[in-house]
Amino acid sequence: MLVLGIESSCDETGLALYSEEHGLIAHLVNSQIELFTEYGGVIPEIAARDHSAKIIGILSQLLEQTKYKLEDINLIAYTAGPGLIGSLMVGETVAKTISNVLDIELLPINHLEGHILAPGLEEDGLEPPYLCLLVSGGHTQIIRCDDYGKYEIIGETIDDACGEAFDKVGKLLNLEYPGGPKVSKLAEKGNSNRFQFPRALMKDKNLNFSFSGLKTSVLYALEDLSEDDYSDVAASFQEAVIDVLTKKLTWAVEVTNFKKLVCSGGVASNKLLRERLKQMAQDNNLEISYPRMEFCTDNAAMIAYAGYMRKKLALQAYSTNFARPRWPLGELYD
Ligand code: KG4
Ligand code: ZN
Repeated sequence: MLVLGIESSCDETGLALYSEEHGLIAHLVNSQIELFTEYGGVIPEIAARDHSAKIIGILSQLLEQTKYKLEDINLIAYTAGPGLIGSLMVGETVAKTISNVLDIELLPINHLEGHILAPGLEEDGLEPPYLCLLVSGGHTQIIRCDDYGKYEIIGETIDDACGEAFDKVGKLLNLEYPGGPKVSKLAEKGNSNRFQFPRALMKDKNLNFSFSGLKTSVLYALEDLSEDDYSDVAASFQEAVIDVLTKKLTWAVEVTNFKKLVCSGGVASNKLLRERLKQMAQDNNLEISYPRMEFCTDNAAMIAYAGYMRKKLALQAYSTNFARPRWPLGELYD
């Protein structure tokens, strides 16, 4: 079985080939980040146009480099949601066209399922059950993965995603988009105890997140400060976010009794977050793993792999009508 994976839910165009025999054969990603530096965030229409301009070229490059032909493909797995509708529709249209012309089976994949299963792409691939903390520019969720195809979100943000909060604070600190990596770099020089920024929803071991109040507190704090203080602000902000993520993941482990943890998404590259979670895992006798960065951020390898597993295990397929900007995890639709 040779699977073509297609990912275009936000601002990364990804194509991948995954086979029964070889595992991941190759994957290519074009990130649009540079297009959005001047705007300070993703502009959906520009993202969709760039997917449209690049996707066929990337597909050709993937086939050329791996020496496969479209006719060799047995299954096309594409991200059908959630994401930006214009972006999703580019991947969807390419997937449906190849499928129709060459009579190849089509499998829509939920983007979150891709993120959840991404650890399985590693050679000593992690198998469910595990608990997944997904922290990126678009998502902040704690997800139970009891088995392939069996997922449940047990905590999520009620406003901004964690990476989005980093990016917004980055903007307040005059850092270029995306601010996350720059905020954490600046934080290295700062005093994380100087400001006590709020930690939201911390009562009754609530597993949901809220980061918008934190961002507003940073905004108010900056009114009386000069640029010399920015590293302390960055460090105190980062401390607040990581404190919340670590505590909530610990509570999630308490109520679920999972022994394996996965942390994925762009924010998983944050060094301090990794250290804290590693410590928490050690203290509680848990295993924690991080998919390699190229599998943590948006990519088509994880989509191809999710498609491969769904097919192999004969899981009920999602129906294929339309791309869905909102698509609750696990919901079959028509
Ligand atoms: O998964 P990802 O590459 O893309 C999407 O969200 O689609 O995540 C990007 C997010 C951005 O918000 C970025 O600022 C954040 O991850 N990020 C970080 C770090 N590296 C990336 N946030 C905090 N610390 C970092 N080191
Ligand atoms: Zn994603």
